Amino acid sequence: MLGRLNHVAIAVPDLAAAAEVYAGTLGAEVSAPQLLPEHGVTVVFVTLPNTKIELLEPLGEDSPIARFLEKTPAGGMHHLCYEVEDIGAARDRLLAVGARVLGDGEPKIGAHGKPVLFLHPKDFSGTLIELEQV
Ligand code: CO
Repeated sequence: MLGRLNHVAIAVPDLAAAAEVYAGTLGAEVSAPQLLPEHGVTVVFVTLPNTKIELLEPLGEDSPIARFLEKTPAGGMHHLCYEVEDIGAARDRLLAVGARVLGDGEPKIGAHGKPVLFLHPKDFSGTLIELEQV
């Protein structure tokens, strides 16, 4: 079911500072910030030869990233995103084996304009998982 690792997401308290660490200190290619109000985040993508790093900063009152940063104020790894070919089939398979899909179970459009779903960390070794249809 799983394809490539699409990205690793890191929640950060200061997106500009984190982007500068990747662009300056680490010499990576960093995108312009993208505001995603429906996900409660502002995001920057760091492009690596084999995957991407997604830097996430809270956006708006009700951001899930704000709650994460209350527990880890310096920032930290937030989720892994795996590619799937058919997100509806992936969801149905996961629900059938008792895995928890977050939200209403309907894919939302993610940062790359493609359908995404999130899976409960308690079912996946303590790691929040994002599935993205490619
Ligand atoms: Co993501």
